[in-house]
Parts: sequence; structure tokens; C-alpha cells
Amino acid sequence: MTGFPGVRPRRLRSSAAIRKLVSETTLEPRQLILPMFVREGIDEPIPISSMPGVCQHTRDTARKAVAEAAQLGLGGVMLFGVPAEKDETGSGGIDPDGILNVAIRDAVSEVGDDLLVMGDLCLDEFTSHGHCGVLDSEGRVDNDATLKLYAEMGVAQASAGAHVVGPSGMMDGQVGVVRTALDGAGYLDTVILAYSVKYASAFFGPFREAVGSSLQGDRKTYQQDPGNAREAIREVDLDLAEGADIVMVKPALAYLDIIRQVRDHVDVPVAAYNISGEYAMVEAAAANGWIDREKAILETLLSIRRAGADQILTYWAAEAVALLDARR
Ligand code: PBG
Repeated sequence: MTGFPGVRPRRLRSSAAIRKLVSETTLEPRQLILPMFVREGIDEPIPISSMPGVCQHTRDTARKAVAEAAQLGLGGVMLFGVPAEKDETGSGGIDPDGILNVAIRDAVSEVGDDLLVMGDLCLDEFTSHGHCGVLDSEGRVDNDATLKLYAEMGVAQASAGAHVVGPSGMMDGQVGVVRTALDGAGYLDTVILAYSVKYASAFFGPFREAVGSSLQGDRKTYQQDPGNAREAIREVDLDLAEGADIVMVKPALAYLDIIRQVRDHVDVPVAAYNISGEYAMVEAAAANGWIDREKAILETLLSIRRAGADQILTYWAAEAVALLDARR
């Protein structure tokens, strides 16, 4: 029969089999990275109330979660440390016996090279004021003084065995100093996953609870203005010139256009961080019965992949593997 409409896009949606054949975007375990919080001096994991299902791990439960991540075939784990004590300069982040470096060592001893162990390279979890860098005498975040500490922190993480370090403090020159320090210490193969594009976002809210942050005020003097896109490209170019191996955009959902622009601009892998507030929104709506949780999780992750992210950091990483398996 001929006639109107002559073109029927619905034909390619008419069965599960044809939809599967023509689907454009893949979502695979290897593309997912699980962020994890490891807290010093606790015997039981502590739930994070604003992130239902996510906890602050003990060293022991962290090891188990890392082993599970390897078994699931995830791309990696991104570790965050929650120290028992914080100070002005965030010294716990550099101390080889600080919780993050200890957790990296634990993780690597658990999985060796089977799973990428990554360290968040930033001082905010370790500073008493909660800023990502050290403060000058007037209370401003001192870029260049902070860089020296990032360089030491990068070497500390690499010597603890981290395969990947993720400088996330948005200081100018951070990738360059970390690369130089790593190379100088012989860690030529340690990968830098640069949080190149990071916006001063309200969606980081639950993370503050996750790391027991004491931040007052905001991070607007170092994180980017949410309205700026050209600036994102500039940050990416700088990080690549300084030696970044993978560039990241963060947050993800309110910045899908930025992920796409960055993906089209560079020829290195582009990661995106599906952050705490993005997780919390879906969990809260689902807990109210307002959305289908599992479908919303997969749609969220798929949208970030479709926007152009090669890798996604997501608190749903482990669960997503089960959801993907169930769909096969
Ligand atoms: C900085 C860092 C933050 C996150 C990851 N690395 C906090 C911030 O920049 O305020 C946020 C992650 C999330 O919200 O899930 N150490």
C-alpha cells in the first residue's frame, strides 16, 4: 500500500529486537567509575542521609566494595578520604598515613591492576575551612601555595599505588604541577584524569555531608560560573597543554551541552561526573513514588553517554551493572 506517510520512523521502534539493533548509544560496565568515601576511625559504615544507598565506608567495607567493583567489571573506583582531623593546610591529604592514601593502598592490594584505583586530588576534605586550597592572610584561596601541596599530594597518591589521580580543585596550573611532580618522582605511567571543567554548582550539596565538609560560603573564586561555556573550552585546552590524559566535565546533567562541546573539541577521552545532587534528586523523587527509579537511573546514565561522555563517575555504578544485566 502506498500513500502517506511514506516515511515511517516508527518501523525501527516496532519491536524490542529492532530497537536493540538500531540503538545508537552503549552503556557498559567498563565505562562506569564508582566514587567511594572512606572515613578514618570508624568501625561501621555510616549512611549518608542525603544520598540514600551511599555510605562512608570503613577501611574494611571499602576493600570489599572495591573487590566487588572489580568483579562487576567496572572501569574504576574514585576514592575520597574523610579524615578524623582536619587542619588549615589539609595535611591529612598528603600524609602517607592519611586516610585517602591508606585507602588507595588497601584498594590496590585488593585488586592489583585488575581495576583502576583513582584518588580525588583536592584538599577540601582535609581542610578545616573546607576550601579546595590553602588560604592566604586575607582568607582568600591562595592558588600558587595550593599548587605545591597538590604536587605533593599527587606523588603521595601515586606512591600509594593510585593508577589515576584526579586533580579537582580548579586551581590554575594544577595539572602541570602534578604532571611535573609525578614525572620527577618516576611515576610516568600515572594517569591524570583532570576535572577540567567544574562549575560552582548547587548540585554538590549532598557531597558536603558525604565528606563532613566545614565549608562556609562558596567556591565561586575557583569553580566556574554556570552560565559560561566558552570558558569550559579554555579550561580544557589549558589542561591538555599541561598534560591531562582524560578531561572531565562536572556536574553532568545541567551541563550536557558542555560535555558535547568538549567531546567535539578534543581527541582525548572525556569523562563526566554524575554528582551527588543529581543522584539525590532521582533517589528522592523515586522514594516519593514520583518516578520509576531504575528506568530513571539508566536514562540518566544513557543521556550522559549520548551527550558525549566516554566515562561516567556515578554512585549507581555497581547497581547499573545489575540493571544492564537484567535488560539483556
Ligand atoms: C572536590 C570534589 C567535590 C566533588 C568531587 N570532588 C566537591 C566540590 O567541588 O564542592 C563533588 C562530587 C559530588 O558532588 O558528587 N574534592
